[in-house]
Amino acid sequence: MAYIHGFSEEEQNRLLSQNEVLAPYIYRNLDFSSFTHIVEIGCGVGAQMITLLNSCPGLSITGIEQSPKQAHRARIHLSHFPGFQNRYDILEDDAKRIHPKFSQPVDAAFMVWVLEHVPQPELLLMNTRTWLPAGKPLWITEVFHPSFRIWPESPAILALLAGYPGLSGFPGRRSGNWHSSGQSA
Ligand SMILES: C[S@@+](CC[C@H](N)C(=O)[O-])C[C@H]1O[C@@H](n2cnc3c(N)ncnc32)[C@H](O)[C@@H]1O
Repeated sequence: MAYIHGFSEEEQNRLLSQNEVLAPYIYRNLDFSSFTHIVEIGCGVGAQMITLLNSCPGLSITGIEQSPKQAHRARIHLSHFPGFQNRYDILEDDAKRIHPKFSQPVDAAFMVWVLEHVPQPELLLMNTRTWLPAGKPLWITEVFHPSFRIWPESPAILALLAGYPGLSGFPGRRSGNWHSSGQSA
């Protein structure tokens, strides 16, 4: 399954703008300020990394991203923030199969809007368990399409949603046995 959003510059810019709007909701109950090193799975163009490197001065982040185009844009974007130098690294690989070796202990892993794009999300989760140290948390923020509401209702948008392939691919529905935090993006 191809990544539905694609890798155009416009789409990459959307990821950055989207996070400027939604970061306050993602991090409302998520505080990494006491951690020293976390791993972001599916880091895209670095939108979450920028937010966290800015808000948590003692934090280092390793991103894992399977698309070379996204990883390239992330490196360019992060290079615009000289103060973040030496506090981040990006590994280009598939998070379903990577067996990373980190230069510093991992306090936590997290991912934001990734599982919905993974055909077999359970494989990614199982692989993460192979390298995430026992007892360390994995935070997942995922879309919850059924929570999307607009008012007044628009038949055109309802029809669009009904035909949206991502809706039937919502990982919470496929996995069936775990609970979503209900984040909507
Ligand atoms: C919707 S973007 C979100 C990016 C970033 N987390 C953010 O919040 O802006 C999803 C990203 O996950 C990446 N991705 C999807 N499957 C992956 C996998 N198996 N391993 C690594 N990255 C993956 C995609 O290439 C894409 O860049």
